[in-house]
Amino acid sequence: MTQVVRVVVNGNEHSIEIKPSVLLVDVLRDSLHLTGTKKGCGTGECGACTVLMDGKPVNSCLVLAIRCEGRQITTIEGLGTPDSLHILQKAFIENGAVQCGFCAPGMLLSAKALLDENPAPNETDIRNGLAGNICRCTGYKKIVKAVLSAARATSGGEGSGR
Ligand code: FES
Ligand code: FES
Repeated sequence: MTQVVRVVVNGNEHSIEIKPSVLLVDVLRDSLHLTGTKKGCGTGECGACTVLMDGKPVNSCLVLAIRCEGRQITTIEGLGTPDSLHILQKAFIENGAVQCGFCAPGMLLSAKALLDENPAPNETDIRNGLAGNICRCTGYKKIVKAVLSAARATSGGEGSGR
């Protein structure tokens, strides 16, 4: 049995026929070919599959695609483009926050959700906001620095306005 789900991904509307057991991460990667979303653990532990659903971060490996009816999904492909990077993407590059890059799409989307909610986070806020995203390479320091620098560039400083 299949079912049609209508979902908006990165501003584009899709009607996709799927089995009810199919996960959002697999629809994104296999049906829509948005392979920027990574599948690591597949059990909600690593955050590599993080996307935004109606602006909030979710582990797409834990979300049934049929639950996305009428939702707005943002993947890393919708954050910026090679010609027009999002300020967080620029900050990650400038601060050397990407090594193998496997965690980066999920990290960036969690960081975007954090800055949307709290434009001037301090280091603790950032570490808490990214707590669900595991990085095996960087030791996190440069990632935190990158998010701080993106926040400073857009809001004027650590903890300002709080
Ligand atoms: S692949 Fe989804 S949390 Fe690890
Ligand atoms: S850069 Fe390799 S896992 Fe984060």
